[in-house]
Amino acid sequence: PIPFFTNLVVRPCHITTPQEREEVLKRTENNPFAFPASMLLVDYLSDSGSTAMIDLQWAAMFRADESYGRNHGYYALQDTVRDTFERGDNQKRLINKVIIDEPNETWKPNYDADIEGGFVNQGQRQLERPNFFITPQGRCAENILYLTIRQILDKKNPGKQLKLTIPSNGWFDTTEAHARSNGIHPVNLFAPYFSEPFPIEEVGKSNPFKGNIDLVRLEELIVKEGPENIPFVLMTITNNTGAGQPVSMENIKAAHAIARKYDLPVWFDAARYAENAFFIHKYEKGYSEKSIAEITKEMFSYCDGFTMSCKKDGLSNMGGILSFRDKGKFWEKYSTPESDVGILMKEKQILLYGNDSYGGMSGRDIMALCVGLLQAQSLQYLETRLNQIQSLCVKLHAEHVPVVLPPGGHAAFIDVNEFFDITVPGIDSSARQEKAKKEGRKWLGRDIADFHGQGLVVELIRRFGIRGCELGAYAFEWDNKNEADRKGVVNLVRLAVPRNVLSEDHITFTAKAIGQMYKDRESVPRCRVVRGQHLRLRHFQCGLEA
Ligand code: F0G
Repeated sequence: PIPFFTNLVVRPCHITTPQEREEVLKRTENNPFAFPASMLLVDYLSDSGSTAMIDLQWAAMFRADESYGRNHGYYALQDTVRDTFERGDNQKRLINKVIIDEPNETWKPNYDADIEGGFVNQGQRQLERPNFFITPQGRCAENILYLTIRQILDKKNPGKQLKLTIPSNGWFDTTEAHARSNGIHPVNLFAPYFSEPFPIEEVGKSNPFKGNIDLVRLEELIVKEGPENIPFVLMTITNNTGAGQPVSMENIKAAHAIARKYDLPVWFDAARYAENAFFIHKYEKGYSEKSIAEITKEMFSYCDGFTMSCKKDGLSNMGGILSFRDKGKFWEKYSTPESDVGILMKEKQILLYGNDSYGGMSGRDIMALCVGLLQAQSLQYLETRLNQIQSLCVKLHAEHVPVVLPPGGHAAFIDVNEFFDITVPGIDSSARQEKAKKEGRKWLGRDIADFHGQGLVVELIRRFGIRGCELGAYAFEWDNKNEADRKGVVNLVRLAVPRNVLSEDHITFTAKAIGQMYKDRESVPRCRVVRGQHLRLRHFQCGLEA
């Protein structure tokens, strides 16, 4: 592989001792989100907003406009979104314009490019029926979306107690919380083969697209709940909760066909769309000759709207987008002659985040995002990025750490049930026990409700200054869920790799450290929530005993 970047600015790591970290862990109630980043050696808490931006992004920030109304970044971002998601267009034009301004050209909106069915309107239509919204980050876009659909469906069905359900290939935690807080039941329909083993020899050669939605269960659920109770079908690309696994074009297309059969819109959670497109390019039949831009265009041709946390594949430190097709299926379902869905959304955007020209983002951040969105489509960038994740997974595997294979898009995921020999009620573990016996390994037989994944995260900070994130029984509240919803919980620890930040030294250090933890797994403590058991999104806030 050809390397993608060289370093221009570097920050030395500070060395702290396990005793120092233990002291701080105590004072922060063993909550990893509250642990100071500067005391860590490697931080895998999130790949969100933690990107080291490229030089062109910094350059673009100097070219920003901080005007309150219709700053030129507003148009630059709209053009970028149109090029990226609607047109699969050449990228150079905008980058040149952002950085150097073509001679004799001033910034002006491109009204001619407004089309019915498009994701962006820049002219009068953007006032009459807005369909493109800037927000500070992804969850703000989600807030606007879920508040608005609840408001509209309640208004359309006065006096009725609607029981709304949204099926997805995998809900991210904040997204799930937004749905729930608006009385919508989120359902995870992971691919039926999600947990099947994948041979290490096949890594880098093939990919089963474990991020896919279970199409059979999708249709069953729509029929059972009734299409009138399904606001839309949600596809998360890549599937963060489903171990960052990609979704195939075939699956996206088929999910769209099922949705259409019942006249339902399809919505994308597009935070890591470029990584997903790269997997399609590399592994799906018929796409190796297609560019990321072309694949992106095709993927998005199967959605009626999307929210995006631009802090991931926008390569920016801040930013979010909500957009839906002008007069598309989503617009049609949620608009009436008296109230346009976009107008209701815009009200919320202005009230919560700021006027529609900036939506809570500075002009500088908007410009950095424009260049980032385009840069993220570079094959050279994506290859370097995904090779780094692959390297982390392969090295962990070599240390006997049970890691989800094939490697996902943005992170390595440790299989907590395997790491601690956890038995899950209702799932037969005799084959796993047998295997451990054959390999001469002691079977620990830990309880899923003891949150050993969280124990692992705390111990990694204490012993090695490595911060991961539990996304499993603890974060997804196994203990607070009923039997049916427990089926949608996967038990993982995530090591999310920030973009353009780490070297191979970090990867090797991490794999060796976690390998050592695996050998010593019996000593990893269980975790108990001692404060904030029933707080919403409790893993960000509550206190733990380890
Ligand atoms: N959707 C997905 C798939 C995400 O991964 C995230 C954030 C969001 C929506 C929300 O976006 O953070 O900009 O408000 N994921 C981060 C993570 C926080 O660590 O995975 P946001």
